[in-house]
Amino acid sequence: MADLRVRKSEKFLAEITVPGDKSISHRALLFSALSNGICEITGFLTSEDCLATMAALKAMGVQIETLDKSGTHLRVQGCRGDLHDPERPIDCGNSGTTMRLLSGILAGRPFSTTLSGDASLSKRPMNRVAIPLGQMGAEIQGQGERCTPPITIKGRERLQAIHYDSPVASAQVKSAILLAGLSAEGRTSVREPMPSRDHTERMLRYLLVKVIREGDTVSIWGGQVPESRDIQVPGDISSAAFWLVAAAANQRSSVTVRNVGLNPTRTGVLKVLGRMGARITERIDESGCEPMGDVTITGAGLHGTEIGGGEIPSLIDELPVLAVAAALAKGKTTIRDAQELRVKESDRISVVADGLRRMGAKVEEFADGMEIMGGAPLHGTEIQALGDHRIAMSFAIAGLFADGETVIHDSECIETSYPGFVHELEQLQTKLTL
Ligand code: S3P
Repeated sequence: MADLRVRKSEKFLAEITVPGDKSISHRALLFSALSNGICEITGFLTSEDCLATMAALKAMGVQIETLDKSGTHLRVQGCRGDLHDPERPIDCGNSGTTMRLLSGILAGRPFSTTLSGDASLSKRPMNRVAIPLGQMGAEIQGQGERCTPPITIKGRERLQAIHYDSPVASAQVKSAILLAGLSAEGRTSVREPMPSRDHTERMLRYLLVKVIREGDTVSIWGGQVPESRDIQVPGDISSAAFWLVAAAANQRSSVTVRNVGLNPTRTGVLKVLGRMGARITERIDESGCEPMGDVTITGAGLHGTEIGGGEIPSLIDELPVLAVAAALAKGKTTIRDAQELRVKESDRISVVADGLRRMGAKVEEFADGMEIMGGAPLHGTEIQALGDHRIAMSFAIAGLFADGETVIHDSECIETSYPGFVHELEQLQTKLTL
């Protein structure tokens, strides 16, 4: 088990590029495999999660070639969705996106497949996809009432189109249904209580699939095959968030992140840091499949804010590091409506609240969030990452502001989303700390 040791740093002045967006990398692979020809992907994220999606597709006969040393440039031979029955169960590792999006695709294939995962994924609910995909005609069996992994999907060549009122704002659920909708007759639609990230809709449209949004409902028509096109993956705003918070919370710091995804369904972290007092400038290029550009953030004396309601899906993965920003800010920050955090790679509400308290912060936990009374000095401690990459990285950032040493145990899980994080952290600490 790898330990990551972090010490207090005084100031950061850095220009950073972050690896490719995780959500978009998964989709680039999956959708190009469903397409009618060759697609080249650039900027692909070579993290464990996305490599699990790649291995799954290869196990089902999709040809994927790596074109450069870094592994970020790929060529995928689309097979119009003609996937082969894999010989063995597919291991999705730690990746909920792999399991849920693949479930949507496999629902419309005429064979039976088992999907398994690691200890963390094996605790996560799959009934949120099993229920709608079951209504469309697939049979999905998992463990217990919450249908936890391993799950077995018995698909069908032709599914039934449905309208689904999703009880959760989840891009994984929405995407699973839309992908199954490609194998259904007629129009399949999903309504969400709040809009979740829209990478699936954007990328399918970019690949000339007709997807329409009417108010809070997204619809797709069955029988369409994505057109093969090259896909550029922008840097991951969720990975950038760690450096953005590190700079925002220090009045003498400034960080520029280049070529990062700036899709408005993902940039809630920038809005919140702006509300807390950080100065932010953005340059956005909207010409590709996804908006992307450069962000510069300059630190300030942060103050507390309220985070909740419709903005939660746009920053759901950034809440652990925003909680760290709140602990470093003056005054009270309240996070509400974030109960989804309890079913991520760990129960992020209780793990964040517990870790921050152990570092000296004042935190009250709620069923759907927490209240953080910022400004108390933080001190280093030992943190168990519990197999959750965003917990490991968020507490590494907290460690940059804490007296003494912060030790993150089990930090190898960072590889699931951000290979290179530890190197970047060392650079920031050694080269740029004055
Ligand atoms: C993701 C959607 C979100 C997010 C996850 C990636 C995606 O999950 O937390 O890290 O790629 O669609 P939910 O769909 O469960 O909200």
